[in-house]
Amino acid sequence: METVKLYNGVEIPAIMLGPGIPAAPKGLSWINERSLLNRAWMKFVARPRATRNFIDAVANGLRVGFRGIDFSAAYGCGGLIADAIEQSGVGRKDVFLTGRISNSAQFKGRIAVEDQIKRVLDEYRTDYVDILMFHWPVTECYETTWKVICDAHKKGLARSIGVANCHPHHLKVLMEVGLKPMVNQFEIHPLFTQKDLIKFNQDLGITVQSYTPIARMDQRLFRLPALLKIAEEHGKSLVQVVLRWHVQQGLVPVVRANKPSHQVDSVSIFDFELTPDEMDTIDGFNIDSRLRYHPDNCDFTIL
Ligand SMILES: NC(=O)c1ccc[n+]([C@@H]2O[C@H](COP(=O)([O-])OP(=O)(O)OC[C@H]3O[C@@H](n4cnc5c(N)ncnc54)[C@H](OP(=O)(O)O)[C@@H]3O)[C@@H](O)[C@H]2O)c1
Repeated sequence: METVKLYNGVEIPAIMLGPGIPAAPKGLSWINERSLLNRAWMKFVARPRATRNFIDAVANGLRVGFRGIDFSAAYGCGGLIADAIEQSGVGRKDVFLTGRISNSAQFKGRIAVEDQIKRVLDEYRTDYVDILMFHWPVTECYETTWKVICDAHKKGLARSIGVANCHPHHLKVLMEVGLKPMVNQFEIHPLFTQKDLIKFNQDLGITVQSYTPIARMDQRLFRLPALLKIAEEHGKSLVQVVLRWHVQQGLVPVVRANKPSHQVDSVSIFDFELTPDEMDTIDGFNIDSRLRYHPDNCDFTIL
């Protein structure tokens, strides 16, 4: 797997797997959902199956070549990531592991953030994460969170540190109270190219991770004939072209690809190159369509 060097010299895989959370288990549709049988089905069959499928998907992702996992304490179930790493046979040192502080811990303050860092390490069954970041710049909380994250870095609990969903005004505050983040992770895809924000970060030497990088397969993107034409010319899938567009801008896409064929597709993007004209064509798909939330206009309690 190719890597990108962060400003502190740590290398991060050029594409990361963000597996999300186990799929919601399904009850038996032909009987009352509150019946004893359905509750037993959920407890003994559906939930364990969803958990197993999730572990298998992450383990398979590592086996086919992913070397970075994006995860948040907000998703819970960090232990499943540890199980998947064990199951994959890939060594812990060869996996770039993300720990992200949840908004709920940030609301509770410094002690809760410190406790969450300990819990994340316990769940992952590791002494350190490769990057520790916060999930959102929660108003009036994120400065304190950042100081705790910087302390954790000093103590060796995190090889590198970063943030998510930060705009220039957040970054300016963060750099006044602590280290410059090594990574900023935010939504980027061809329908929402965020050129100015990318440039602001890259000019500062902050590596940008792009989340929702394939716009959750939005058909406003994947039905575009111009994208199809580029894919045909390279003999690649539409998703591969879009992921390659990220990589060629120096971005690190964080893709959710839990189906084995999608995983192979997503990691096989390092054997072709888009021309400058093709990059411009894809840039031109931008319609400023944000699929997730705006950090200056959202309710952090639900994220
Ligand atoms: N920091 C934050 O606030 C934040 C917010 C949102 C997301 N994220 C991170 O970003 C990750 C990805 O974002 P996302 O889940 O919003 O969207 P996404 O990665 O743009 O899209 C995921 C969807 O694309 C499908 N897919 C993946 N590879 C494919 C391929 N090669 N061909 C066809 N379909 C493919 C997946 O299907 P299968 O899963 O069935 O393969 C899934 O349905 C998250 O899991 C999370 O780690 C972070």
